[in-house]
Amino acid sequence: MSLKKIIIHPDPRLKKVCEQVDGISPQLRKLVTDMLETMYDAPGIGLAAPQVGVLERFFVMDVAGKEAAPEPRVLINPRITWVSDELNVHEEGCLSIPGIYEDVTRPAKVRMQFKDIDGNDHEEEFEEIAATCAQHELDHLDGKLFLDYLSGIKRRMITAKMKKLKKERARDE
Ligand code: NI
Repeated sequence: MSLKKIIIHPDPRLKKVCEQVDGISPQLRKLVTDMLETMYDAPGIGLAAPQVGVLERFFVMDVAGKEAAPEPRVLINPRITWVSDELNVHEEGCLSIPGIYEDVTRPAKVRMQFKDIDGNDHEEEFEEIAATCAQHELDHLDGKLFLDYLSGIKRRMITAKMKKLKKERARDE
Protein backbone atom coordinates (compact mmCIF):
# COMPACT_ATOMS: atom_id res chain seq x y z
CA MET A 1 0.00 0.00 0.00
CA SER A 2 1.10 3.54 -0.52
CA LEU A 3 -0.36 6.96 0.01
CA LYS A 4 -1.38 8.91 -3.06
CA LYS A 5 -0.84 12.61 -3.49
CA ILE A 6 -4.19 14.41 -3.38
CA ILE A 7 -4.60 17.08 -6.05
CA ILE A 8 -5.59 20.49 -4.70
CA HIS A 9 -8.06 22.79 -6.47
CA PRO A 10 -7.63 24.56 -8.87
CA ASP A 11 -6.31 21.92 -11.25
CA PRO A 12 -7.49 21.00 -14.76
CA ARG A 13 -7.68 17.30 -13.77
CA LEU A 14 -10.47 18.14 -11.30
CA LYS A 15 -12.50 19.64 -14.15
CA LYS A 16 -12.61 16.63 -16.48
CA VAL A 17 -15.45 14.25 -17.20
CA CYS A 18 -13.92 10.86 -16.36
CA GLU A 19 -13.96 7.69 -18.51
CA GLN A 20 -15.96 4.55 -17.72
CA VAL A 21 -13.95 1.76 -16.07
CA ASP A 22 -13.59 -1.11 -18.58
CA GLY A 23 -12.85 -3.98 -16.26
CA ILE A 24 -11.48 -4.82 -12.84
CA SER A 25 -7.71 -5.21 -13.19
CA PRO A 26 -5.09 -5.94 -10.52
CA GLN A 27 -3.91 -2.34 -11.04
CA LEU A 28 -7.40 -1.07 -10.23
CA ARG A 29 -7.55 -3.16 -7.05
CA LYS A 30 -4.18 -1.80 -5.95
CA LEU A 31 -5.26 1.76 -6.72
CA VAL A 32 -8.49 1.32 -4.73
CA THR A 33 -6.52 0.00 -1.74
CA ASP A 34 -4.15 2.96 -1.96
CA MET A 35 -7.05 5.40 -2.28
CA LEU A 36 -8.77 3.98 0.81
CA GLU A 37 -5.53 4.26 2.75
CA THR A 38 -5.05 7.82 1.51
CA MET A 39 -8.63 8.71 2.47
CA TYR A 40 -8.30 7.30 6.01
CA ASP A 41 -4.92 8.98 6.43
CA ALA A 42 -6.18 12.42 5.32
CA PRO A 43 -8.65 11.87 7.10
CA GLY A 44 -11.74 12.03 4.92
CA ILE A 45 -14.97 10.13 4.21
CA GLY A 46 -14.71 10.03 0.42
CA LEU A 47 -12.10 10.18 -2.32
CA ALA A 48 -12.69 10.10 -6.07
CA ALA A 49 -10.21 8.83 -8.66
CA PRO A 50 -9.57 12.24 -10.33
CA GLN A 51 -8.45 13.60 -6.95
CA VAL A 52 -5.40 11.35 -7.26
CA GLY A 53 -4.98 12.09 -10.97
CA VAL A 54 -6.82 9.05 -12.36
CA LEU A 55 -9.52 10.18 -14.78
CA GLU A 56 -11.77 7.13 -14.41
CA ARG A 57 -15.25 6.72 -12.98
CA PHE A 58 -14.88 5.33 -9.49
CA PHE A 59 -14.63 6.50 -5.91
CA VAL A 60 -14.15 5.17 -2.39
CA MET A 61 -16.05 6.20 0.72
CA ASP A 62 -16.59 5.30 4.36
CA VAL A 63 -19.28 7.17 6.27
CA ALA A 64 -19.34 4.83 9.28
CA GLY A 65 -17.85 7.52 11.54
CA LYS A 66 -14.79 7.56 13.77
CA GLU A 67 -16.31 5.54 16.61
CA ALA A 68 -17.61 2.69 14.44
CA ALA A 69 -15.83 -0.16 12.69
CA PRO A 70 -14.61 0.85 9.24
CA GLU A 71 -17.00 0.27 6.33
CA PRO A 72 -14.89 0.86 3.22
CA ARG A 73 -16.92 1.12 0.02
CA VAL A 74 -15.88 1.21 -3.63
CA LEU A 75 -18.34 2.42 -6.27
CA ILE A 76 -17.28 1.76 -9.87
CA ASN A 77 -19.11 3.33 -12.83
CA PRO A 78 -21.77 4.74 -10.49
CA ARG A 79 -24.87 6.38 -11.89
CA ILE A 80 -27.91 7.90 -10.25
CA THR A 81 -31.19 6.09 -11.01
CA TRP A 82 -33.45 8.06 -8.66
CA VAL A 83 -33.36 11.12 -6.41
CA SER A 84 -35.85 12.16 -3.72
CA ASP A 85 -37.83 15.40 -4.05
CA GLU A 86 -36.89 16.06 -0.47
CA LEU A 87 -33.72 18.10 -0.14
CA ASN A 88 -31.10 18.19 2.57
CA VAL A 89 -28.55 20.83 3.55
CA HIS A 90 -25.25 19.42 4.69
CA GLU A 91 -21.93 21.06 5.45
CA GLU A 92 -19.44 19.67 2.94
CA GLY A 93 -15.70 19.64 2.75
CA CYS A 94 -13.35 18.15 0.18
CA LEU A 95 -9.84 16.73 0.42
CA SER A 96 -9.00 18.77 -2.70
CA ILE A 97 -10.16 21.97 -0.95
CA PRO A 98 -8.61 21.53 2.51
CA GLY A 99 -9.95 23.51 5.46
CA ILE A 100 -13.06 24.82 3.69
CA TYR A 101 -16.55 23.77 4.81
CA GLU A 102 -19.76 25.13 3.30
CA ASP A 103 -23.44 24.22 3.29
CA VAL A 104 -24.63 22.51 0.10
CA THR A 105 -28.22 21.59 -0.77
CA ARG A 106 -28.77 18.24 -2.48
CA PRO A 107 -31.49 15.58 -2.75
CA ALA A 108 -31.86 13.93 0.68
CA LYS A 109 -31.89 10.42 -0.80
CA VAL A 110 -30.47 8.93 -3.98
CA ARG A 111 -30.38 5.54 -5.58
CA MET A 112 -27.23 4.56 -7.46
CA GLN A 113 -26.26 1.69 -9.72
CA PHE A 114 -22.62 0.69 -9.60
CA LYS A 115 -20.15 -2.19 -9.68
CA ASP A 116 -18.12 -3.26 -6.68
CA ILE A 117 -14.44 -4.22 -6.78
CA ASP A 118 -15.39 -7.84 -7.62
CA GLY A 119 -17.37 -6.66 -10.65
CA ASN A 120 -20.78 -7.38 -9.11
CA ASP A 121 -23.67 -5.07 -9.99
CA HIS A 122 -25.50 -3.24 -7.23
CA GLU A 123 -28.35 -0.81 -6.88
CA GLU A 124 -28.49 0.86 -3.51
CA GLU A 125 -30.30 3.69 -1.82
CA PHE A 126 -28.27 6.19 0.17
CA GLU A 127 -29.55 8.65 2.75
CA GLU A 128 -28.24 11.25 5.15
CA ILE A 129 -24.44 11.59 5.15
CA ALA A 130 -24.05 8.66 2.71
CA ALA A 131 -26.34 10.42 0.20
CA THR A 132 -24.37 13.66 0.51
CA CYS A 133 -21.03 11.89 0.23
CA ALA A 134 -22.00 9.67 -2.72
CA GLN A 135 -23.37 12.67 -4.67
CA HIS A 136 -20.31 14.77 -3.85
CA GLU A 137 -17.99 11.99 -5.06
CA LEU A 138 -20.04 11.28 -8.18
CA ASP A 139 -19.79 15.00 -9.03
CA HIS A 140 -15.99 14.65 -9.02
CA LEU A 141 -16.31 12.09 -11.84
CA ASP A 142 -18.07 14.77 -13.89
CA GLY A 143 -15.49 17.45 -13.16
CA LYS A 144 -17.68 19.15 -10.59
CA LEU A 145 -16.72 20.40 -7.11
CA PHE A 146 -18.96 21.45 -4.21
CA LEU A 147 -17.71 24.98 -4.89
CA ASP A 148 -19.83 24.95 -8.03
CA TYR A 149 -22.94 25.09 -5.81
CA LEU A 150 -21.77 28.26 -4.05
CA SER A 151 -22.03 31.89 -5.16
CA GLY A 152 -19.46 33.20 -7.64
CA ILE A 153 -17.97 35.50 -4.99
CA LYS A 154 -17.50 32.70 -2.49
CA ARG A 155 -16.06 30.41 -5.17
CA ARG A 156 -13.51 33.02 -6.26
CA MET A 157 -12.48 33.76 -2.66
CA ILE A 158 -11.96 30.08 -1.89
CA THR A 159 -10.11 29.49 -5.15
CA ALA A 160 -7.76 32.40 -4.37
CA LYS A 161 -7.14 30.91 -0.91
CA MET A 162 -6.33 27.51 -2.45
CA LYS A 163 -3.91 29.06 -4.98
CA LYS A 164 -2.09 30.66 -2.08
CA LEU A 165 -2.03 27.37 -0.16
CA LYS A 166 -0.61 25.56 -3.19
CA LYS A 167 2.12 28.17 -3.54
CA GLU A 168 3.04 27.81 0.15
CA ARG A 169 3.11 24.02 -0.10
CA ALA A 170 5.27 24.14 -3.24
CA ARG A 171 7.71 26.39 -1.43
CA ASP A 172 7.88 24.02 1.56
CA GLU A 173 8.55 20.95 -0.56
NI1 NI B 1 -14.41 16.15 -2.81
